[in-house]
Amino acid sequence: MEFSIKSGSAEKQRTACLVVGVYEPRKLTAAGELLDSVSDGYISNLLRRGDMDGKLGQMLLLQNVPNTLSDRVMLVGCGKERELNENNYRKIIATAINKLNETGSMEAHSYLTELNLKGRDSYWKIRFAIEATLETLYTFDQFKSKKSEARRPLRRFIFNVSSRRELPVGEQAINEGVAISNGIREAKNLANMPGNICNPPFLAANAEKFADEFTHITTTILDESELEEMGAGAFVAVSKGSDIPGKLIIMEYQGGSAEDKPLVLVGKGITFDTGGISLKPGAQMDEMKYDMGGSASVFGTLRAAAELKLPLNIVCVLAAAENMPSGNAARPGDIVTSLSGKTIEILNTDAEGRLVLCDALTYAERFNPELIIDIATLTGAVIIGLGHHASGLMSNHNPLAHELLNAGEKSNDRAWRLPIWEEYHEGLKSNFADFANIAGRAGGSITAACFLAKFMRKYQWAHLDIAGTAWRSGQNKGATGRPVALLTQFLLERVAKAS
Ligand code: BES
Ligand code: MN
Ligand code: ZN
Repeated sequence: MEFSIKSGSAEKQRTACLVVGVYEPRKLTAAGELLDSVSDGYISNLLRRGDMDGKLGQMLLLQNVPNTLSDRVMLVGCGKERELNENNYRKIIATAINKLNETGSMEAHSYLTELNLKGRDSYWKIRFAIEATLETLYTFDQFKSKKSEARRPLRRFIFNVSSRRELPVGEQAINEGVAISNGIREAKNLANMPGNICNPPFLAANAEKFADEFTHITTTILDESELEEMGAGAFVAVSKGSDIPGKLIIMEYQGGSAEDKPLVLVGKGITFDTGGISLKPGAQMDEMKYDMGGSASVFGTLRAAAELKLPLNIVCVLAAAENMPSGNAARPGDIVTSLSGKTIEILNTDAEGRLVLCDALTYAERFNPELIIDIATLTGAVIIGLGHHASGLMSNHNPLAHELLNAGEKSNDRAWRLPIWEEYHEGLKSNFADFANIAGRAGGSITAACFLAKFMRKYQWAHLDIAGTAWRSGQNKGATGRPVALLTQFLLERVAKAS
């Protein structure tokens, strides 16, 4: 799909379809008024006759409107003007895109950028129209023998802006909207992939592909034997339960100058989580293929950053392993020594995310980072606490936490902070080792983060628990690509702050 910006009068556009908003009841937007007057009231006549009143989600397709140069005009219902908000705006875009795809218009010139959204400028309207468009058009049919291709798919989408002065900001919105959407697509594709294909070596190969595709990215893969030798006993305790070898995947993106300290993103990459010997119940266990959603979002964010050529240094550390029950699997009660030297009593092998992550976090310290953010589908408890709308955010550094919360607001990919006070660490005490890998049922997302915090004393650190946001369950189940938008926004704000 190709996006571009233009500033021009609606009746003069030679295109397959003009897209024009109509507010309820039967109130034309500026482009609609113009088309109506050049066509001597053709459109207002139809509306008066009752063909459409502008309710949200309505659509009326007109052919050959008199005295215009486009093949079609699509009127899209926008609801009451006063009630227009961000979510409705996204719905309007999605409706328009679906209909355009059905009607066979391969090109569209949209005047929906003139919709009156309080406090939102052209940048916002264009960027989020792109994100909504590519969200609407996303399909994952790689494993279907029959693909669901539209006969004449929409190929080119033109955003109209009211003056030429707005062209540059429109271009910026396109670049950023497309890069973020490409990142989201990357993350969705990886997380939707089944566990028999997307395993740790597959993720490692994907990292090698990144190094081939982007000149500023270099990839290093550490094998299970190297990790064992290094002393990453917590990681190995998980990955040795599987016949498929675990990998620690490192991608280094150098977009900044050599002396800039890197921002480190650490991703949980459990390519399938059976629970191990503490086996999970069977229902919906298929969904545990997305337990590498944290790593998927790191890939997506790195893609967005590299496509935008952000002037930052970013290091990604992905802990890729499969959590299986087997003769080699860790047993409840096993004690292992982590890369940090601290010993851990594994009371529940299903709390494997924190085991692979604590070693990845310790490893991340080698890069002398500016800050470390880990992203993980870490706990079912975060779904109980926050549902599917907000990612859980926990951090040892207030300014970093606020930056991430703000980036979430700005990118429509929100997080909500939970505390990790000292009192919560209590439950992780072990009778036999430095700490246990689980606490009681209370505050499960918090105690999981507290476990990680024990390994992150030296650096600014934040943890995003995305178990509720990275995946949609039910009929329409599938990966969401979250929190690629939040993380990329965070990086964009860092760039803006530095310049
Ligand atoms: N991958 C799961 C967390 C999860 C659960 C993600 C549901 C998405 C949906 C994680 O490894 C896990 O099993 N966590 C346990 C921790 C418990 C044993 C302390 C959980 O949440 O039940
Ligand atoms: Mn688990
Ligand atoms: Zn898990």
